[in-house]
Amino acid sequence: MSIQTIKWVNGRVRIIDQTKLPNEFKYIHCRNVETLWEAIKRLRVRGAPALGVAAAFGVVLGLKKFNSSDKTKFLKELRRLCDYIGSSRPTAVNLFNALNQLKEIVSANKQKSVTQLKALIQKEALAIYELDRRVCRQMGDYGTALIKPKSNVMTVCNAGALATVDYGTALGVMYSAKKKGKQFQVYVCETRPLLQGARLTAWELLRAKIPTTLICDNMAATLMKQGKVDAVFTGADRIAANGDTANKIGTYNLAVLAKHHRVPFYIVAPLSTFDPKTATGKQIPIEQRHPSEVRGFGPVRTSPSAVNVYNPAFDVTDNRLITAIVTEAGIIRPPFGKKIKRIFVNSE
Ligand code: MRU
Repeated sequence: MSIQTIKWVNGRVRIIDQTKLPNEFKYIHCRNVETLWEAIKRLRVRGAPALGVAAAFGVVLGLKKFNSSDKTKFLKELRRLCDYIGSSRPTAVNLFNALNQLKEIVSANKQKSVTQLKALIQKEALAIYELDRRVCRQMGDYGTALIKPKSNVMTVCNAGALATVDYGTALGVMYSAKKKGKQFQVYVCETRPLLQGARLTAWELLRAKIPTTLICDNMAATLMKQGKVDAVFTGADRIAANGDTANKIGTYNLAVLAKHHRVPFYIVAPLSTFDPKTATGKQIPIEQRHPSEVRGFGPVRTSPSAVNVYNPAFDVTDNRLITAIVTEAGIIRPPFGKKIKRIFVNSE
């Protein structure tokens, strides 16, 4: 049975509450944009591509309440909603790309009535949803060749069905490889502090009957030294024009280790995760999260409540540590800057 992370159902946004997994599988039906904002902030829905879809659906939800036919007021409300949704989480660029896409569709159709614009926005949001389903499968097909038969691969955080509409980016490659009959096993880093690897990725991979071994984040180096890792696959939250890639905190550690141990390090991400206007990783905004996530482990406090905490949710992996980036436009290899530029110039 497939995992439907986010879906527009009868005028509401239905999401799986990922904070409850793996102990409980529960849907939440967001009726208004405020509930959806809270769900994004608290990581009930998470993962860059899923956040793009959530943002677009959030605008549709917010506009349902707008009952005037005054175009100026409508445009003001659209801007307000986009700013509000944009204030939820800063790093995953898919969220901002989706909001910009909706604003652009309105700019290109200014002569239309408010009712028509609302319908156009809803259509575009559903197109963003459908596109994610399609591109994840395309990336899966391209990336399969990178998984060698009988190999051991490693991943961090969750770049699976739960981070997208229903298939995944890095895990999508694994699902496609399995469909093609490849045998491999996956080492999953647990991903402190919020344990997306342990809670979500391990759950997804076991459902898909892919051999999975969970490790603590600090075990990755030893496994690589022992020759137990043939490739690392991760997703991305934002890829700068030069290929520098922001992803879950701990990704950079793996990339450095992979380089040292001559293990290929692959990023799998759709073009909606690229931010060609941001030159390098240095300019990518990194979300800082609440200290309580580090002071404790789940609901249990494991450190003095007064201790200082540093809790960046993402890190940036330098382009020179990345072997290749798998996208729906194919596999990009260094030099990334030139190739990324070519893709975005051609798609304009
Ligand atoms: O904080 P999260 O769980 O939203 O972070 C998501 C990630 O960083 C994932 O690793 C992922 O690669 C991006 S989504 C495919």
